[in-house]
Amino acid sequence: MDLKEAILEKINNKTAVVGVIGLGYVGLPLSVEKAKAGYKTIGFDVQHKKVKAVNEGLNYIGDVVDADLDKVVKSGMLTATSDFSFIKNVDCVAICVPTPLDVYQQPDISYVKSSAESIAEFLHAGMLIVLESTTYPGTTEELLLTVFEKTSGLKCGKDFYLAFSPERVDPGNLLYKTKNTPKVVGGVGKDSTEVAAALYRNVLESEIFEASSPKVAEMEKILENTYRNINIGLANEMAIICHKMGIDVWEVIEAAKTKPYGFQAFYPGPGLGGHCIPLDPYYLTWKAREYDYHTRLIETSGEINNYMPQYVIERSYAILNREKKALNGSKIFILGVAYKQDVDDYRESPALKVIENFEREGAHVFYHDPYIPEYKYKDKLHRSIELTKENLKSADLVVITAMHTVFDYEFIQKNSKIIFDTKNAMKNVSKKQNIEVL
Ligand SMILES: NC(=O)c1ccc[n+]([C@@H]2O[C@H](COP(=O)([O-])OP(=O)(O)OC[C@H]3O[C@@H](n4cnc5c(N)ncnc54)[C@H](O)[C@@H]3O)[C@@H](O)[C@H]2O)c1
Repeated sequence: MDLKEAILEKINNKTAVVGVIGLGYVGLPLSVEKAKAGYKTIGFDVQHKKVKAVNEGLNYIGDVVDADLDKVVKSGMLTATSDFSFIKNVDCVAICVPTPLDVYQQPDISYVKSSAESIAEFLHAGMLIVLESTTYPGTTEELLLTVFEKTSGLKCGKDFYLAFSPERVDPGNLLYKTKNTPKVVGGVGKDSTEVAAALYRNVLESEIFEASSPKVAEMEKILENTYRNINIGLANEMAIICHKMGIDVWEVIEAAKTKPYGFQAFYPGPGLGGHCIPLDPYYLTWKAREYDYHTRLIETSGEINNYMPQYVIERSYAILNREKKALNGSKIFILGVAYKQDVDDYRESPALKVIENFEREGAHVFYHDPYIPEYKYKDKLHRSIELTKENLKSADLVVITAMHTVFDYEFIQKNSKIIFDTKNAMKNVSKKQNIEVL
């Protein structure tokens, strides 16, 4: 039996041991699915507190069902460690580490690189490695392949298998989870694609699309997220123009949505947030420059989206001005600092920039978010206060920056002086006289 047949057999009869590097929003759900599918799974993370939590069966990711984690940990199907020498015992490993931007908005690929180096040290014949982190087209072949072949002396496609398969997790989505979201797989060579696709077919319930190369899979992920980024940019620009023209942008979108083809609704807001949509397009922007190309649409959309937190301040100025109040010295109560509704993730959240901008203007800002009791931004610690009648009443302006479903919007409307709703969260509230919508 050759190496490919051997790994395929292990995958298909579930004797393969699988590893996941990075136990965050992407890696923990994937680890649980692999363990649930019947694979002995080892999760690797550099954060000891996450390793400890997993080993104790304590869930910290909203999309993971507590009982599922508890079950796979108790049954011994999932364990976690910070010791990368366990890679020796692993047949297939997925890399799910962060891919942020540095201060110059350039890709920070250091987490992927260090994971690759950790794997390379223990890479062995017959192994499959899949990169799931979002990145620029070329990362799998230019970075991973080079590190693996150089360090191990093994040859990809002959001695081991390597693929890119982008994660598409949408935190808080009640319909689509890791298990039922279609997956794209692009391997370095046909055998790598076949082996990687076989693993996903055994773990997931969804369609597996086999791309002809890792570059195609890397680029399609960037396309998905750039598509969202640019369309949100368009919705934000529409909001700005509509306000100037005295038109309700939300109604405009509802009307446009009635077209059954050729239009998909995107909504304006206080800016872009999360670890994906605001960042991923810049991975392409950076890479495109190598090919003497400037990604104009991405830059333009970035300009509009990045302006939104400041636009919120400008609109707030105008609202307070109507009340004969200066922003300087006013009390501003922010509702929701998560980057989107019903999640506890505030990475890149525009609400943090809104708060910073308000404070810069001399406003006294406090916030409430049931999912984020405290957060640190630029070394400053912020703590959530209660959503009480008194706190609402004491604010000169209440600004809604995340549309959490647990908020009692009638209660908020009743007890606030004025509300600036940047998410159209109050659309179903019966009385609207003290509400201004973005
Ligand atoms: N969060 C999402 O909604 C989402 C959706 C689709 C794709 N992605 C992509 O998936 C990747 C991971 O994102 P995430 O949200 O899960 O990040 P995360 O920060 O939640 O988790 C990443 C984990 O990797 C660990 N880590 C960092 N370096 C490591 C190393 N060298 N070895 C082992 N562990 C290491 C961190 O401690 C952390 O626990 C990113 O590329 C992101 O763009 C994220």
